[in-house]
Amino acid sequence: MSAPRVAIVGGGIIGLAIGWRLRQRGIDDLVVLDSGEPGAWHVAAGMLAPGGESAFEQPALARLLEASNERWPAFAAELGVDVGFDTTGTLGLAMTADDQAEAARFWTPPLLRPSELREREPALSPRVRAGVYAPAERQVDPRKVVAALRERLADRIVAKRVEDLAEVDADVVVVAAGCDTARLTGLPVRPVKGQLLRLRGEPGLLRHVLSATVDGREVYLVPRADGEILVGATQEERTDHAVTAGAVHELLHAALDLVPGLAEFELIETTVGHRPGTPDNAPLLGWLAPNDITDLSGLSGVALSGAASPGAGDRLVIVAAGHHRNGVLLTPITADLIAGLVADGHQDPLLEKFAPGRF
Ligand code: GLY
Repeated sequence: MSAPRVAIVGGGIIGLAIGWRLRQRGIDDLVVLDSGEPGAWHVAAGMLAPGGESAFEQPALARLLEASNERWPAFAAELGVDVGFDTTGTLGLAMTADDQAEAARFWTPPLLRPSELREREPALSPRVRAGVYAPAERQVDPRKVVAALRERLADRIVAKRVEDLAEVDADVVVVAAGCDTARLTGLPVRPVKGQLLRLRGEPGLLRHVLSATVDGREVYLVPRADGEILVGATQEERTDHAVTAGAVHELLHAALDLVPGLAEFELIETTVGHRPGTPDNAPLLGWLAPNDITDLSGLSGVALSGAASPGAGDRLVIVAAGHHRNGVLLTPITADLIAGLVADGHQDPLLEKFAPGRF
C-alpha cells in the first residue's frame, strides 16, 4: 500500500499538529490548507486543565483530557523550541464562602489555607478564603506552539480558503477547520464567543495559573514569563466579534479583586475568539461516515467512496474539530489519534465516543 495523498483543511493548532505527526510517520504527500483566519488558538490562554475544564458527566471526555495532558510534556519537548510550557501548576481559588461552595465541586483536596496560598502567591488579595494546588494543571503558549508547528511544516502550508470539500484533491481529507467545520461538513459545530484580555507589567507578580471564583464571577489569570498576564474569559453563545465594555469591566473587576497589584499593569490587548462547540461540547474525531469506513487497507492511490458529506466526492474524510474549551489541551492526543487513523487505519478505542456522526 502506498502512502495516501493527504490534505488537511485548517492551519490552526489542531490541523498543524496532525500534519506534523503525519510527516513524522513518513506521509510526505501532504498539504495544509490555511484560510489565514486565526482560529481559537490565537485567543486561547493555553491552560492545560483537565480537571478544571472537563465535563464530569462525560467520563470518556475526562479520560481523553487526562490522556492528552499526559502527552503534553513530550509534545512540547519534541517541538524543540520554547513554547512556554510551564509546569508551575494551577491554584484553584475562592473569595467567599459561596464562591468556595461553587468552586469546590472541581477541587481535589487538600484544601489550602489563605496563609498557605499567599506563601505560594504573595500578590493574592487577603480576601481570598480558600484554595487548592493542582500541580498537573500546567500552561503553554498557543501562539508559540503554532509558530513552531508552522516552521516544521513551512513547505506544506498553502494559503487557501476551502469553499467546498469537493475542490480538495487528495485521497484523505482531514477537516480541522474549527468553527468552519460546520460550513464544510454540515456537522453541528457552533461558535461560542470568548473575550480575553492581555495585561503587561513587571515579570514575576504571579507564578501559578489562577482559576478563581470571585464574588460569583469566574475568572482565570495566566502569567507568562515575560510579564504578560492573560485574563479570561467570557463564554457567550454569540457569533459577533465585539469587545464589550461589560465584559472588559467584569474581567478586570474580578482580576483586580483577586490580585490588586494588577492595577499597575498596562492593558495591551483585548481579543475575541470563538470556541468550536458541539451539542455535547466534546470533540468530533474520526471518519465522517464511521459506519462506512473502518480501515484504509484498500487505499493505494485510488480514490474511494464513502464520505457522507454532500459535495465531498470520492475521498475519505476525517474530522478533527469541535474541541470547545479544550483545543490546546487536546492537541497532542488529537494529533496522535488522527495520524494513526490516516497512516494505518488504526481506530484507537479512545475515539469511540467521539464519532462525528453521533448526533
Ligand atoms: N480553555 C479556556 C477557555 O476556553 O476559556
